[in-house]
Amino acid sequence: MAAPYLALIVDNEPDICELLEITLKRMDIDTHIAATISEATLLLNRNHYDLCLTEMRLPDGDGIDLVKLIHTQFTEIPTAVITAHGNVASAVQALKAGATDFVSKPIDMQQLAKLVKSSIKVKPATHSGKRSNQAQLTLLGSSPLMVETRKTILKLSRSTAPVHICGESGSGKELVARMIHEQGPRASGPFVPVNCGAIPEHLMESEFFGYKKGSFTGAVSDKEGLFQVAQNGTLFLDEVADLPMHMQVKLLRAIQEKAVRPVGGVKEIPINVRILSATHKDLATQVKEGRFRQDLFYRINVIELRVPSLREHPSDVPVLAESILRRITLENSLPSTRLSEQAMYALVKYPFPGNVRELENILERAITLAEGYLIKECDLILPKLQADEETTTSAFTRRNPADLSGQLKKLERSEIQKALAEARYNKTAAAKLLGISFRQLRYRLKKLEMEH
Ligand SMILES: Nc1ncnc2c1ncn2[C@@H]1O[C@H](COP(=O)(O)OP(=O)(O)O)[C@@H](O)[C@H]1O
Ligand SMILES: [Mg+2]
Repeated sequence: MAAPYLALIVDNEPDICELLEITLKRMDIDTHIAATISEATLLLNRNHYDLCLTEMRLPDGDGIDLVKLIHTQFTEIPTAVITAHGNVASAVQALKAGATDFVSKPIDMQQLAKLVKSSIKVKPATHSGKRSNQAQLTLLGSSPLMVETRKTILKLSRSTAPVHICGESGSGKELVARMIHEQGPRASGPFVPVNCGAIPEHLMESEFFGYKKGSFTGAVSDKEGLFQVAQNGTLFLDEVADLPMHMQVKLLRAIQEKAVRPVGGVKEIPINVRILSATHKDLATQVKEGRFRQDLFYRINVIELRVPSLREHPSDVPVLAESILRRITLENSLPSTRLSEQAMYALVKYPFPGNVRELENILERAITLAEGYLIKECDLILPKLQADEETTTSAFTRRNPADLSGQLKKLERSEIQKALAEARYNKTAAAKLLGISFRQLRYRLKKLEMEH
């Protein structure tokens, strides 16, 4: 089974790489090795690392450039440099460029182990713990569109202006919001996501602003609202277009006044939060059609960031697919599984109306259906889209990917149910009938909520 952490080692001396690899392995850290900066860049775009260790002198450039790249584009990865003995100047230079630490050659193993331990520990709270929790924290992909989006995210994270994130469902809007928060000065504060479409209308005010004890039946003690919970951090208003009009007025007021008044309270509480918002709807159209207040629109839409749909950057599908597969197998202690060439080709050609989230669903299902450790094209069960749909983008918005995934789940449940019945509820036998492992069956049962 894979270790819970993954490190990137960048050095062109095989002996050193091997030594580092062994040392890290003992600390339960897997490693990938790159001999050059360009190899390292490629890997950084493909995987999520918990740590990078780089030599300063590399065949295609200076380790400092890599430190700078990581510091600007992959800010969450702690980076340590390996410097020549006694070269204090280059160590200082590396620290200035954003490195978290350095070791000098000849490498003292104890010192290295200490450095690795503390580097992994200094990561922000959301990153601590297992790799599985943080696998989604980077927008993966090396297409110009993704590289550009990552750059924009970094720029926006430094400002305090409200950002409105638009894009299709499943394209990564929430992930982008999290990155803006985590890369900015509020990273040590809370990130509070709220799905504006999911709060019952009569509870909205108390959810957002809190309430005082006794303000209504059932208010047995004071309760903080979401604005207070997000104090000194970021409040992410997801699906903001779904806010009812009367709440839009109240929200606007809170944002303008930088203060909230809990339900049943008399005092205003000063609030310091950064507002990020998102919707898959076109907010400008909502304003034109009178469903969204123009004044609130201007407040939250100071900067607009559009997240591209997956079919606008199909070259990233392989990288995303590999990373998602890795995450699913890791999270569920399944053996590592890969995609056949034809399967990968089919995925790259597929237009993904449900974007990256649909890719995740397709792969989760495929892992169960696959025989052995190879996912074949037939395991993907890609929905057949009409020929005209494949060419017209507007058609994708008419489809409802949630329906589709619901239907497929139903189908899968009924197949599993049949097998279980046939095997008289002996799971090992049922798994055999389905041509999957016992573990995979157990995973599917949990996933499909079929276990009682
Ligand atoms: N470029 C990307 N790299 C890695 N994961 C991504 C990327 N884009 C989206 N995802 C993943 O896809 C899923 C859906 O993204 P999410 O941010 O919830 O989409 P949205 O909010 O736009 O509906 C999440 O699991 C997210 O981590
Ligand atoms: Mg979302």
